[in-house]
Amino acid sequence: MDPRTPSGNFWRSLKQPILALAPMEGYTDCAFRMMARECGADLVYTEFVSSDAIAHRAPTAFKKMAFDPREQPVLCQIFGKDPDAFVAAAREVQARGFAGIDINLGCPAHKVVRSGTGVALMRNPEYVKKLVAATIDAVTIPVSLKMRASIRKERKEIAPGTPERTTALDLMEALEGMPIAAVMVHGRSYEDGFEGPVDISMIRAVKERFKGIVLANGGVTTPERAKELMDATGADGVGIARGALGQPWIFDQIRSYLARGRYDTPSIAQLRSIILRHAELAESTKGPHGIIELRKHCASYIRGYPNASMLRSRLVRVTTRQEIADILDELTDET
Ligand SMILES: Cc1cc2nc3c(=O)[nH]c(=O)nc-3n(C[C@H](O)[C@H](O)[C@H](O)COP(=O)(O)O)c2cc1C
Repeated sequence: MDPRTPSGNFWRSLKQPILALAPMEGYTDCAFRMMARECGADLVYTEFVSSDAIAHRAPTAFKKMAFDPREQPVLCQIFGKDPDAFVAAAREVQARGFAGIDINLGCPAHKVVRSGTGVALMRNPEYVKKLVAATIDAVTIPVSLKMRASIRKERKEIAPGTPERTTALDLMEALEGMPIAAVMVHGRSYEDGFEGPVDISMIRAVKERFKGIVLANGGVTTPERAKELMDATGADGVGIARGALGQPWIFDQIRSYLARGRYDTPSIAQLRSIILRHAELAESTKGPHGIIELRKHCASYIRGYPNASMLRSRLVRVTTRQEIADILDELTDET
């Protein structure tokens, strides 16, 4: 059997539903991925890394690729558009021991789209086919994709009678038969950015068409929403991005909700030890700078508490774990 076929890769050994920490530039670093794993995520994605930068052996790219074996399975997500760079990057990803490589076909950032990468690639399924084929041929680890529900075609491409959008389904049809292990579909269109509605029927259509694993993504912030999204789409699991910020325990909560119909929320004492654990991981992986980068996570963790805004203004200036611990001593749920 081809080891790259869906039945021959780690994805298939994951118990369903699969709960994944979706990639987030600036957030899903080694420390946060470990937090997610410790809180029940089945697999985690790195922030996106430029395939060109990896191919050029840029230290910044290699820094982003640092991971701890305890995170496994961890996927390295790459973006770009040059097939040669994809081949070099894929080989590097495999050599570094990642469980899989994920290709970004969904990033809507201006700079990324202008350079014809990220979600812009969805407009050209035949080109994506070349990129994916080159990547698959370069490695033996599973290759997965992350895409959006749809993107409007460029004006010149819309001839009379042709559809105005390229959808995730169009793309998966073009890639049919390739040994792609999994697809995460962010159910929003490019034009809807990060706040629009999630296109349930598009995710379901991909799930019906594609034989590999399908993860539904978009708007999961509670266990109830995770269940709704999986029920409505038939997906094999969910990818959670912003819904895990400040509450990485959402993965455990979802599992509890699916098994027993209820879930617990951490007490203040538990929250404090979770944040301090995150701080410990941040410091051990990035040194003192890890604490600086943790500031934004701290703000998310205390969101919703009555004295959050007062504490946030202090947390965004912390430089040590002890400072964080001292500030958190003042966190209260009393108004
Ligand atoms: C700050 C931020 C950074 C992101 N970075 C990436 C990225 O590097 N690669 C990627 O595929 N998606 C990225 N995304 C998109 C998320 O993975 C996800 O598809 C999107 O946020 C929708 O999921 P959510 O509603 O659970 O947040 C990012 C999203 C946010 C908010």
